[in-house]
Amino acid sequence: MNAARFGIVSAIAQEQQGLLECLQQPRCVRHGSRDYTLGTLWGSEVVLVLCGIGKVAAAATTTSLIVEFGCDALLFTGVAGGLGDGVAVGDLVIADTLLQHDLDARPLYPQYEVPDTGLTHFAANRALTDRLHAAAQRLLSPQAEPLIDAQTRQAFGLHAPCVHRGLIVSGDRFISTRADSDALRHALPDALVVEMEGAAVAQVCRDYDVPFALVRTISDRADDTAHIDFGRFIHAVASQYSRALLSELWHAGLINEKADPGGR
Ligand code: ADE
Repeated sequence: MNAARFGIVSAIAQEQQGLLECLQQPRCVRHGSRDYTLGTLWGSEVVLVLCGIGKVAAAATTTSLIVEFGCDALLFTGVAGGLGDGVAVGDLVIADTLLQHDLDARPLYPQYEVPDTGLTHFAANRALTDRLHAAAQRLLSPQAEPLIDAQTRQAFGLHAPCVHRGLIVSGDRFISTRADSDALRHALPDALVVEMEGAAVAQVCRDYDVPFALVRTISDRADDTAHIDFGRFIHAVASQYSRALLSELWHAGLINEKADPGGR
């Protein structure tokens, strides 16, 4: 993917911190109540930003990255609650498609359909997603150096973290009861994870025909202990993951090769 300028959106400050530490010639621009940090990351021009929580915050930030800051590709890193069987805390999940689980304009439009698009599922860019997937697999391969120290791994039961790829669902709700996560699993059996921003980023990127990819680290299982697991995980783990993953993506040469821009 040989974009001229990548927007890198993080959901939480701890994730962005690791990337900020690697950024060269950083320059901060305040726009629309957010701080956008421009600079060079491993040889590529990037803009780093924290979008905040929820679909509106994510959509507004994505629009600014594209329209105001001229980003021509986007990467999103964040955490999510696991829904799918075998999607465990510490695993990485990469989006193939994204859907808004709380969008319901029935009877005017089918459930989950974004009015006037004819779409319920929004696709991530295939080429960029393939590269992110390859980087994630290398990072979590049994041969790779563990990202997290042994004590933290034990505390979270992170034995052999896996990489998954598939449907990610987004909505303006933190899912923190077993009843709510069961309801989501029942309504959307293919959903691997639930989070609060991704599908909004996907919709705006489609509007502007800008390629994007999204990766989530599982912080909780979207059940009754989700809020406790989420807080502990963010502190102990989140900052290591996104820096290591994006560094792998760039250093493996996966980002600068010419990519097939199909699948936007
Ligand atoms: N992000 C991380 N965990 C989540 C959850 N349980 N629900 C929604 N968004 C999340």
